[in-house]
Amino acid sequence: MLNRLTIRQRILIIFIVIACVGGTVQFLIAGRQLEAATLEFYQHHLETDALLVAATFAEPLGHYLEGEDEGSIGRILTTLQHEMRHDYLILDRNYRVVGYSANTGYEQVDRVTASPELAAADTVQIGSDIRPNYAGEETLYLAVPVLYEGTPLGYLVLSEPMAPAYAEVNRRYMELATATLPVIVLVIGASLWVSSTISRPVQHLRNSALNMAQGALDTRIQVSSQDEIGQLGETLNYMAGQLETLMQTQRSFVSNAAHELRTPLMTLKLRAEALSDETLPKDERETYLSEIRQEIDHMAELVSSLLLLARIDEGRHLQNGSVTDTVSTLYDILRRWRIEAEGKKLAFDAQIDPDLPDLPMSPNDLRVVLDNLLSNAIKYTAQGSIRVTVAHTPQAFNIQVCDTGIGFSEEQRTHLFERFYRTETVRGRYSGNGLGLSIVEAILEHYTGQIEASSPGTGKGAAFTVRLPL
Ligand SMILES: Nc1ncnc2c1ncn2[C@@H]1O[C@H](COP(=O)(O)OP(=O)(O)OP(=O)(O)O)[C@@H](O)[C@H]1O
Ligand SMILES: [Mg+2]
Repeated sequence: MLNRLTIRQRILIIFIVIACVGGTVQFLIAGRQLEAATLEFYQHHLETDALLVAATFAEPLGHYLEGEDEGSIGRILTTLQHEMRHDYLILDRNYRVVGYSANTGYEQVDRVTASPELAAADTVQIGSDIRPNYAGEETLYLAVPVLYEGTPLGYLVLSEPMAPAYAEVNRRYMELATATLPVIVLVIGASLWVSSTISRPVQHLRNSALNMAQGALDTRIQVSSQDEIGQLGETLNYMAGQLETLMQTQRSFVSNAAHELRTPLMTLKLRAEALSDETLPKDERETYLSEIRQEIDHMAELVSSLLLLARIDEGRHLQNGSVTDTVSTLYDILRRWRIEAEGKKLAFDAQIDPDLPDLPMSPNDLRVVLDNLLSNAIKYTAQGSIRVTVAHTPQAFNIQVCDTGIGFSEEQRTHLFERFYRTETVRGRYSGNGLGLSIVEAILEHYTGQIEASSPGTGKGAAFTVRLPL
């Protein structure tokens, strides 16, 4: 159920529930305490009054009980009612009515029945009870024994309507409510604000992500905060950027591949048409056929490079395994290239550290890497030397292939590892597809290795350095 709600709704519900429950509990607890304190204050005030008045009646009641001066009690009562604005009732020890304030409902009564406040007065000095009076109004009754020289003569009962006390309690409740309500409203307002500051950017993220998913990879999220949502926005932007580059690379890869295949196909078509001329002399026919073979070789090479790259991209090509006898494997690979170099009258110098460790790389991949670097070095060097250095540190295995060939400029260096890239110096002069270094880089990437190219400048030789972590 909660899963179906939006974050905004959840925050709102939680806040509102907390605010309402918290506010109500707070209101009730504080209200109860206020109510008790108000009533206690009210009663305490009357008790003091009752005790004082009871003392006033000690002597008159004594005289009265001895049959003297029967009128004085009535006079005192009238004065008291006037001054104190409370109602009093005087009883003797047997609850017989001795005197009462006017309009208290005792006119017809001779003796009162035992009530809780009277029963309590004997034991705890002041007894109290709240009950409706003869007119049905909620009334507080306080009973105090009237003592004369320590001897109880009777009781004084003070009665006072509770209505003013209750009105006071209600007034205090109202005050409390007017203080609590704004807090609840404030909390709800705050929850609305918090929930919208969270949900609005999330909504924005969602819409942007949807846009991206529908192909608009140039969509960028406007990140306006540094919090988690801002970070998520930055991550999505980064992801879109990466995807955009990837798509771009993929597209240009396909179009480059198609382009590279079209040229040899055109040559093949032209040569095939020429060969269909039956009057063509034999030696020209031979030339055309040899060109056709060359183009086919070239295409075959291109297709196998493309296949290898595609397999590396898919992660299918790379085999596990390691080079165990590193030194002899290296000499094995270099043998062929030494012959090639010497065939081109190039000096070939290999310096291989005699105690090389095992390599965490499949022997075939090591061969592909070296073959590409050495074929380049020999292909792009007309005179001078090729030098291969293999060494290691505890952390890494290093291979360097240096030549004294055509080299490259700093600007060209930054593109060497791009697929199909070939410098202007080599285009049309040297065969090749511009894929060898991309393959080397892709393989090394799989082994978390690196390759770097350097050259002092065009015509000044080149060096390629491979670093493979151990
Ligand atoms: N040793 C080198 N000296 C100078 N330039 C080089 C060297 N090695 C590579 N390059 C430049 O880098 C480009 C890319 O090299 P890469 O090996 O990827 O392709 P390629 O040799 O042209 O073709 P292939 O796909 O057959 O290897 C080359 O075309 C060349 O311009
Ligand atoms: Mg190459």
